[in-house]
Amino acid sequence: MKVLVCEAPGELSYAEKDLPVLKKGEALIQIKRIGICGTDLHAYEGTQPYFTYPRILGHELSGEIVDANGADGLQKGDNVTIIPYFNCDKCIACRGEKPNCCVSMQVCGVHIDGGMVEYLKVPHNALIGDKDLSLNQLALIEPLAIGAHGIRRANVQQGEYVLVIGAGPIGLGVMEFARIAGGEVIALDINQSRLDFCKEPLNVTHTVNALEADVVAELNRITNSDMPTVVIDCTGSLKAINNGFNYLAHGGRYVLVGLQKGEICFSHPEFHKREATLMSSRNATRADFEHVINALKKGLIDPINYITHRVAFDHVKTEFKNWLDPANGVIKAMVEIA
Ligand SMILES: NC(=O)c1ccc[n+]([C@@H]2O[C@H](COP(=O)([O-])OP(=O)(O)OC[C@H]3O[C@@H](n4cnc5c(N)ncnc54)[C@H](O)[C@@H]3O)[C@@H](O)[C@H]2O)c1
Ligand SMILES: [Zn+2]
Ligand SMILES: [Zn+2]
Repeated sequence: MKVLVCEAPGELSYAEKDLPVLKKGEALIQIKRIGICGTDLHAYEGTQPYFTYPRILGHELSGEIVDANGADGLQKGDNVTIIPYFNCDKCIACRGEKPNCCVSMQVCGVHIDGGMVEYLKVPHNALIGDKDLSLNQLALIEPLAIGAHGIRRANVQQGEYVLVIGAGPIGLGVMEFARIAGGEVIALDINQSRLDFCKEPLNVTHTVNALEADVVAELNRITNSDMPTVVIDCTGSLKAINNGFNYLAHGGRYVLVGLQKGEICFSHPEFHKREATLMSSRNATRADFEHVINALKKGLIDPINYITHRVAFDHVKTEFKNWLDPANGVIKAMVEIA
């Protein structure tokens, strides 16, 4: 089978590999869609923590079961997506029903080889499908589940202001699930075309361009001087994350969905006087995937319009670097195989 390997930062090459051999508890999937995410782009740039090379990228996947090999409730021919966070089932986090932050986490396409392949074997417990969803919808579930999980961490309540910093595909998912939870979403970014996308088609009422506005003044105006009770970083920019502390209401929660390599720095007195809560949000659980599937089926979200670029597997090597350039307006690039 054909695979695409990221040999080193900036270097992709196609290779031939043997078909995977299944063990007990594993199924074989013919990969049909691969969503490209910031993690893949940053791995290619060499700026992503947790990466070693060579690595086969790709974790936003959908495809058809070729051999279910006894998977519960699934059979050959079913379309599925995968929950790409392969956890150990033994550690403190797994025992505590937080497999999404397993001590020995192996994310498919990050710590171990992923889905830029024609056929992938995956553990049965990583499979999730729904016959009413298309291959494109299935491949979009994972990034949306990251957003659903961040909102569950934040425990967003009806009517509260939720400031989402960063309107990339992850931030967009966070905004959608904040809205579904009843939050009043405010989108903050430095990229106007992404903020325009928040307005239409996402219908986000409040958008703020950090390059043009006095952000604190604008947030005061929008929230009647309360400031947002929930702030969620989805930029992965150290500067944006540090600034985020200044936007928090007294008693508020700050959730870091975005990830970067450096050390966060904030004023202890400012944090203390707010009695603020800081938390990270890592990956997602099966419950988050199910929440996304329900939202898709009820029509509460329609993420197909996130897909701005479609490309055949054979052209990924040449197209990949173009997706890094913000001028190309990529929100979600989707690779199509077979
Ligand atoms: N929690 C998780 O498990 C998880 C999973 C996937 C991705 N991530 C992380 O989520 C983050 C976002 O991913 P993405 O794919 O949407 O990335 P992206 O790069 O497409 O989007 C980031 C957005 O942040 C904006 N931004 C950058 N600096 C800013 C600033 N100073 N102020 C305001 N906005 C700013 C950019 O203009 C961009 O629109 C990344 O850090 C990624 O690593 C986390
Ligand atoms: Zn992703
Ligand atoms: Zn574990």
